[in-house]
Amino acid sequence: MAATPRLEIRNLTRRFDGRAVVDDVSLQVMPGQVTCLLGPSGCGKSTTLRMIAGVEMQDSGSIWVDGELICDTHFRIPPERRRIGLMFQDFALFPHLSVAENVAFGLTGSAGEKRARVETMLDRVNLRRFIDAWPHELSGGEQQRVALARALAPDPRIMLMDEPFSGLDNRLRDEIRDTTLSVLKDADAAVLLVTHEPDEAMRMADDIALMRHGKIVQQGAPYNIYNAPKDKEAVAFFSDINVIRGTVRGALTETPFGQFLAPGVPEGQEVEIVIRPQHLKIDFDRNGSGPLSTAQDGTPARGVVVRARFMGNESLVEFRMDHDGSIIKATVPNVFLPRPGKPLWLTIRRDRCFVFPAS
Ligand SMILES: Nc1ncnc2c1ncn2[C@@H]1O[C@H](COP(=O)(O)OP(=O)(O)OP(=O)(O)O)[C@@H](O)[C@H]1O
Ligand SMILES: [Mg+2]
Repeated sequence: MAATPRLEIRNLTRRFDGRAVVDDVSLQVMPGQVTCLLGPSGCGKSTTLRMIAGVEMQDSGSIWVDGELICDTHFRIPPERRRIGLMFQDFALFPHLSVAENVAFGLTGSAGEKRARVETMLDRVNLRRFIDAWPHELSGGEQQRVALARALAPDPRIMLMDEPFSGLDNRLRDEIRDTTLSVLKDADAAVLLVTHEPDEAMRMADDIALMRHGKIVQQGAPYNIYNAPKDKEAVAFFSDINVIRGTVRGALTETPFGQFLAPGVPEGQEVEIVIRPQHLKIDFDRNGSGPLSTAQDGTPARGVVVRARFMGNESLVEFRMDHDGSIIKATVPNVFLPRPGKPLWLTIRRDRCFVFPAS
């Protein structure tokens, strides 16, 4: 028997002014699992979360927790009885309450029980020493950790987090993400985290649901989404891309970089070969002869360096290609800064490119 999801949404749709901003979205999250809703601004992430929280009503579809219906278009358990924890970017601490009072806010029970729970939660986020402090006495990151303790104190079955780290600076954000993740895993809640940052999704998620125009276009483990993206946009969401166009002739596409397989694509159809900058190989000119073709890397094509920049972990080199004047970007680990105007050769790693019918 398959395990029951902690959270399941089925065919959730929400329309504003006749436009479906959440369009037939279905999703499952298991206990102890972090699923990221990842997508560009306006794609319907927050609206989805608000329906699950119960502060927004769907036009159709249903929401289930541990196999029990909590909301459809006829039946609705009110938000405060759903045992769902919330952490939003603008979900500030109450400034007039102490840290302890903030964490105790959603708790029931005797004063002693509440105090014990507050101490446990503050221990988990390593802030016990601030128990009697005021929110304004804490740094942004510390406030965020108190907010996490407060959200988890009532032992929610589900945590909904909407861009909870976006107010923090980079270094602090990584640290808080890691703390948050370990506290959430301990709590065994099902977590649905909304973000528009692919790095955050890769770092936090067991499962990523890629959302676009109100729909989930692809869902899977970060590794699978990154390495088996469904379309060009899915590749582009995670990194810079290069696109090389060609036309299918007998299941193959002929390009300046050699032939590429285009399985299942009809004869005569235009295709786009999509390749990330780190998967191009740069080679020397050798007085115009370039490197030899190989089975794995295909045919080299020549370009001249437009510019090269050092980015810290890698160097980014932009080329103008001889064959059509298009710009191609390639990254190289460490320092590689050829002068503008220098001719070099590029090959495309066939095992790392994606071939899609042209959109
Ligand atoms: N109450 C509302 N009335 C009308 N339109 C709304 C309402 N709430 C949201 N929308 C629209 O629905 C779409 C999705 O909004 P939503 O807040 O879910 O996006 P999002 O994916 O969270 O974006 P962001 O990353 O910018 O937060 C947007 O176009 C927004 O303008
Ligand atoms: Mg939003």
